[in-house]
Amino acid sequence: KDQMASSSSFLLLAVLLALVSWQATASDPSPLQDFCVADMNSPVRVNGFVCKNPMEVNADNFFKAAALDKPRVTNKVGSNVTLINVMQIAGLNTLGISIARIDYAPLGQNPPHTHPRATEILTVLEGTLYVGFVTSNQPAPNRNKFLSKVLNKGDVFVFPAGLIHFQFNPNPHKPAVAIAALSSQNPGAITIANAVFGSDPQISDDVLAKAFQVEKNTIDWLQLLYVVPIDGYQGGGACLGLGRVAEIGTHVVH
Ligand SMILES: *[C@@H]1O[C@H](CO)[C@@H](O)[C@H](O)[C@H]1NC(C)=O
Repeated sequence: KDQMASSSSFLLLAVLLALVSWQATASDPSPLQDFCVADMNSPVRVNGFVCKNPMEVNADNFFKAAALDKPRVTNKVGSNVTLINVMQIAGLNTLGISIARIDYAPLGQNPPHTHPRATEILTVLEGTLYVGFVTSNQPAPNRNKFLSKVLNKGDVFVFPAGLIHFQFNPNPHKPAVAIAALSSQNPGAITIANAVFGSDPQISDDVLAKAFQVEKNTIDWLQLLYVVPIDGYQGGGACLGLGRVAEIGTHVVH
């Protein structure tokens, strides 16, 4: 029995180590040919998309007209991310890169989030941004260190893969615009508040109360603010206001 227990805990350790080292090296695999334009209609499932016949590839597979030309309407937290990934340009498949335009309202923010598969390099086209990221739990001297900067037009900043980061427009009168390149054809994004307090179904408030070391009521309050997606976007938290809480309060009882 003891031997079984120790071999199963060894297995668990091995799985955990594999998971951790996989995360540490998560990035798009290198291409094995000039290009592999995604064939979105293929029923074959691979990592990414299978290649379209190269004889049928043309310039339009690497192009999207006016993709990032216009300012966007910003959401509840005052931003709008327009991401051009492999879903918008099929030619990005296997190339490990994508691009985004981010519009910020005055005092708007792109809230704390991470990209599980990409490092991001960002430049400011218009306005000013206060940006930052937090390092991971390890190693000890660098534990959860916060690195931040105020960026002006033309400045460039890097957010390392997987780390929680944000951008905030500190100007109460002027919008800001940034362009970011990301090292994945499909970087993915996890918005921290939405993932933690707005998951579907919700994470148990017992779990979150202990994790955050607060009363369950505090967690219930936060979960209430994130409970239903509004215009497809859950970001907003306290910005949603009391009217909304009253409106949804009746059916959220823990
Ligand atoms: C982003 O902007 C576009 C175009 O202005 C708009 O259709 C879309 O709803 C906006 N997205 C969010 C999340 O606000």
